[in-house]
Amino acid sequence: LRDKYLARIAGAGDEAALEALRVEAVGKKGEISLKMRELGRMTPEERQVEGPRLNALKDEINSALAAKKEALADAALDERLRAEWLDVTLPARTRRQGSIHPISQVTEEVTAIFADMGFAVAEGPQIDTDWYNFDALNIPSHHPARAEMDTFYMHRAEGDNRAPHVLRTHTSPVQIRHMEKHGAPCRIIAPGRVYRADYDQTHTPMFHQVEGLAIDRDISMAHLKWVLEAFFSAFFEVDGLKIRFRASHFPFTEPSAEVDIQCSWEGGQLRIGEGDGWLEVLGSGMVHPKVLQAGGVDPSEWQGFAFGMGIDRIAMLKYGIPDLRAFFDSDLRWLRHYGFAA
Ligand code: PHE
Repeated sequence: LRDKYLARIAGAGDEAALEALRVEAVGKKGEISLKMRELGRMTPEERQVEGPRLNALKDEINSALAAKKEALADAALDERLRAEWLDVTLPARTRRQGSIHPISQVTEEVTAIFADMGFAVAEGPQIDTDWYNFDALNIPSHHPARAEMDTFYMHRAEGDNRAPHVLRTHTSPVQIRHMEKHGAPCRIIAPGRVYRADYDQTHTPMFHQVEGLAIDRDISMAHLKWVLEAFFSAFFEVDGLKIRFRASHFPFTEPSAEVDIQCSWEGGQLRIGEGDGWLEVLGSGMVHPKVLQAGGVDPSEWQGFAFGMGIDRIAMLKYGIPDLRAFFDSDLRWLRHYGFAA
């Protein structure tokens, strides 16, 4: 009996089999329990021999069951540890993170620098009337500047006589809208998207400009020059960067100047803010009296400067990007190459 149960306990494969064995051997109606009940029918002499033997057997079986139960639990734990192991020394799998687009980043940089000089941010619609985009800026219907701008006109159905709308070709209409609403004095920049039908390495049909407008009683070209010098020094992180005004013409400014920044080309390497080369970066001038008038500001009392600068262009210069079109290709490899995506 003893050997039979010990052998079967040793061979039990799981806790259920072990429990069945316990019931069979030492349960209420188990083989050993029944034998113990028979003790009552024995003579006292027989009982004295058989009693202790059976009790010892029961104890031995019980402790064998307990030992086996523990062994099975240990084995189960070992198995789980083997199956669920985790190698904490493995390098983590990298996860790609979204990041800010270079144009957005440069727009923020520009905005922050002008904010330090007291310029607020103004906005206007990207679809505007041709009055705001042209007429109010002293570009009448037959002015050659209209033809030069490669304007996208919004289609109108026949018989629809509402004012013609265009995709704004520059951020200058925001000058008019801001003056109309807030009058003078003012000091704003207006960054945003503009549109022209043009496409090559340095032109895309949508691009970005930032307009500047400062109006007060005694604003002059000298203020304009200081503001732009301070801006470009900060933006290109070069102390004392030089800029140059070149006489030019825009219908909405008088006088007008194109602005160049100092640069050098050594060994095919463009460096901003050093050397004796010049790079054109923006158009500017004193706001034309007719433009002030169109914005409801009295030119006999107020005067000011305005400028318009290509955001994409200064971004290309700052980050050494040769092809404008790449900005708008949404190619993550390109963004990563220039350090703009993780
Ligand atoms: N609007 C002009 C352009 O798009 C730039 C400009 C703005 C020039 C303000 C002078 C003053 O080219």
